[in-house]
Amino acid sequence: TAEIKDNTVIVVLGASGDLAKKKTFPALFNLYRQGFLPRGCRIIGYARTKMDKDEFHKRATSYIKGADENKDIANAVEAFKELSTYVAGDYEDGAAFDNLRTHIEEIESSYQAKERNRIFYFALPPTVFIPVAKNLKEHCYNNKGGVNRIVIEKPFGQDLDSARELLNSVRQFWTEDETFRIDHYLGKEMVKNLLVLRFANVALGAAWDKNSISNVQITFKEPFGTEGRGGYFDEFGIIRDIEQNHLLQVLSILTMERPVSFAAEDIRDEKVSLLILISSSLYPPIERNDVLLGQYVAANGKPGYLDDSTVPPNSTCPTFAAATLWINNPRWEGVPFVMKAGKALNEAKVEVRIQFKDVTQGIFKDIARNELVIRIQPNEAIYLKLNSKTPGLYTRAIPTEMDLTYKRRFLEAKIPEAYEALILDVLRGDHSNFVRNDELDVAWKIFTPILHWIDGRSGPKPRPVPYPYGSRGPKELDAFIEKYGYRRNAEA
Ligand code: BG6
Repeated sequence: TAEIKDNTVIVVLGASGDLAKKKTFPALFNLYRQGFLPRGCRIIGYARTKMDKDEFHKRATSYIKGADENKDIANAVEAFKELSTYVAGDYEDGAAFDNLRTHIEEIESSYQAKERNRIFYFALPPTVFIPVAKNLKEHCYNNKGGVNRIVIEKPFGQDLDSARELLNSVRQFWTEDETFRIDHYLGKEMVKNLLVLRFANVALGAAWDKNSISNVQITFKEPFGTEGRGGYFDEFGIIRDIEQNHLLQVLSILTMERPVSFAAEDIRDEKVSLLILISSSLYPPIERNDVLLGQYVAANGKPGYLDDSTVPPNSTCPTFAAATLWINNPRWEGVPFVMKAGKALNEAKVEVRIQFKDVTQGIFKDIARNELVIRIQPNEAIYLKLNSKTPGLYTRAIPTEMDLTYKRRFLEAKIPEAYEALILDVLRGDHSNFVRNDELDVAWKIFTPILHWIDGRSGPKPRPVPYPYGSRGPKELDAFIEKYGYRRNAEA
């Protein structure tokens, strides 16, 4: 897949929505400011809302930080506006897309080269994915040389069948090579670091299996609820929102075998092999007993999930879920991988915690376990909990840490936003950090039985246990993770 260097129009569909405003435009701006957009690149916003250029510019730049204090940024924002225009139109109407094409062609008429590249970024609700994919192909596709690409983001369906339907419909119009399916966790610096950490370090590689590792915790915590988004969230729940995609991606990179190379297909082949193994060697891949569901209730002056007027009364939608997966291969047999994700918890934190086994008993008693923690956000860090002798005249082992906190270790480093990294990958034609069709398929295969149970499609719906807004999660959680061998070290 070719790298795009010039003569490019990027169309952001859904330009008046939240995703575009908060993520897509700021990411495009950062790329622009650092000189990563193709030469002569122009940006077009497209959405149903009628608005003039000024209003569009105001929205598109409202989440760009720093322009008030920094003149360079302020100037760059003005220049960025110059590159960006807006077209209003419907998503289902072919004529509206003809209009969009005319606008694209007007811009392209200033390009010297014959090759003209078009990138279509879907910042859209899933209900219009298919008509937009079709209309773009039929009305805005450039057949005259150059590259056409679509960038699309979850929700990719609700379960295996609906995801397949969506995949098949989009595939009628866009090839796999032209399609970039975003899981924005794959753009996060620490998630990208997993490959290097695992495969560039003999010391870690040697301990990366059931002989050394007792259990692995992959945790996502957010300190806010679904306020304002409850109606949307209720159709999905926390497993579809976070675990089936973001956390499963982290799990697959953590556990796959070493790819032949860093090439996109090599990496994705290894991930898919691992996921197929999870989905097929155990059925169901996630047992009901291996799941703990929770829903937050009002506390600390904050509303409960059911207090949101957009949420149906008596909804049993989980806003918290812990789910344990197993990988039945020689490397991982018997090691539990516990995914935990929750809204309205006590803190914002995403981390992987690999807990090693106890040292052979004998000379030490009750000694802390080694843990390798990869903190994805906030405050990116890797730290290894080790036991060390207390300095001084006594020999006593105390838990301590080897600490690679990015802020302290890489003083000058600017960590890019996930979307920035991913849009650059789209321009470079690098699919490594995007979800391949078979990967999506198998991810749904793993989660669909448990999701159908939660949705009440295979018997009565399970009731989530309540937990207070702002707490660590359901009180049942400690016993749940202990069941899988997790041992809280004296100092955690
Ligand atoms: C999105 C979910 O995919 O990820 C949101 O739909 C969630 O519910 C968000 O808040 C978290 O992303 P980040 O980058 O803030 O960790």
